[in-house]
Amino acid sequence: LIASLEQVDQTYIMVKPDGVQRGLVGEIISRFEKKGFKLTGLKLFECSKELVEEHYKDLKQKLFFPKLIDYITSGPVMCMAWEGVGVVASARKLIGATYPLQAEPGTIRGDLAVQTRRNVVHGSDNPENGKHEIGKASYAILRTCQWNPTSWADY
Ligand code: TYD
Repeated sequence: LIASLEQVDQTYIMVKPDGVQRGLVGEIISRFEKKGFKLTGLKLFECSKELVEEHYKDLKQKLFFPKLIDYITSGPVMCMAWEGVGVVASARKLIGATYPLQAEPGTIRGDLAVQTRRNVVHGSDNPENGKHEIGKASYAILRTCQWNPTSWADY
């Protein structure tokens, strides 16, 4: 257990479209920086439907899956790679519970969100997925993002 706590890992953190549109990118970066993690990659881009379906493939059978895909592809997301000792589990704690109304105050979702779908941020759920998701994102972000703030939803 101690060995795993000391391992330097990478995690994929994604500010979802609501977080980007509400201007919460800086706030979220700040929380991870203050905790002591290192930002090793950052890119704003619009995900293709295929990429998001792959990202959330474990949820394919869920009733909310189509709405989740529509939402994540509704605007630009901020993709980030973060590195540090125990960063995967720690990031999940900083993010808080999936349902924002159940997330503890002090967590990102607990402080900044109310709706489950619009819960501001994604974080990898284990170190293997962290590496996998960063790999996928770094491939996808070769595409330059073009975005138009005037078309953003009014959250
Ligand atoms: P999940 O991987 O279970 O949660 P987390 O993001 O905390 O790892 O679900 C992925 C996303 O799917 C979740 O962040 C928001 C969305 N979602 C819904 O829209 N409705 C739901 O009932 C659930 C459980 C998740």
